[in-house]
Amino acid sequence: MAVRNISTDSPEKRAAGVAASRIVESRMVVGLGTGSTVAYTIKELGRRIREEGLEILGVVTSYQSEMLAIEAGIPLTTLAQHPELDIAIDGVDQIDSRLYAIKGGGAAHTREKIVSSSSKRFVVVADESKTSKQLDKTVPIEVLPFAKTLVVKKIKELGGKPELRSALRKDGPVITDNGNFILDVDFGVINDPENLALQLSSIPGVVEHGIFSNVDELYIGKKDESVEIIRR
Ligand code: 5RP
Repeated sequence: MAVRNISTDSPEKRAAGVAASRIVESRMVVGLGTGSTVAYTIKELGRRIREEGLEILGVVTSYQSEMLAIEAGIPLTTLAQHPELDIAIDGVDQIDSRLYAIKGGGAAHTREKIVSSSSKRFVVVADESKTSKQLDKTVPIEVLPFAKTLVVKKIKELGGKPELRSALRKDGPVITDNGNFILDVDFGVINDPENLALQLSSIPGVVEHGIFSNVDELYIGKKDESVEIIRR
């Protein structure tokens, strides 16, 4: 997957990430998302394990969150061992007022969707820049390399403008943790995310798209480090 710089400190992201970690209680099995905002949640959960005796198990969504969770000292399990999670916490690239979201900026949305869909409660953490009246960011779509040409054609027929995500600092495409490509697709303003999600899911070779309709709660970190919580 694409490894983005997640080390720059952001008070807004930290406020949201840390606030969401407080929902987690001992004996919970917790889905651990990917990205710079949820990295604060993962680190804070590690601190609570060390200093408060919190006892949890984590299920990771990427190699990035696996490395962070191991570093934080969070014991890990798998979906095979724990098919139903108590809570999943993750970041988001854009989220609208109805809590429809676009994810996949870190190319991890396939596992993120599987983990969040396995969870009783799905909480996303974000700074204010991620909120929008309507979704209009590019939608990441994980694609089987063998199917790229067909998927590009079908997406253009739907009115999308696809671009193959390329790897930083080297020639060639980003390869996801699952060995696939990512297409970032511009659909303009997305008025009906549910319908677009259905259309994308029906294209052969689409592994998973980044439209999420299962967010239960949104934690928004503000510049003054306060946190607004929006529930479905
Ligand atoms: C990864 C994701 C991330 O959660 C999303 O890109 C947000 O990342 P960040 O918190 O770094 O802005 O969907 O696939």
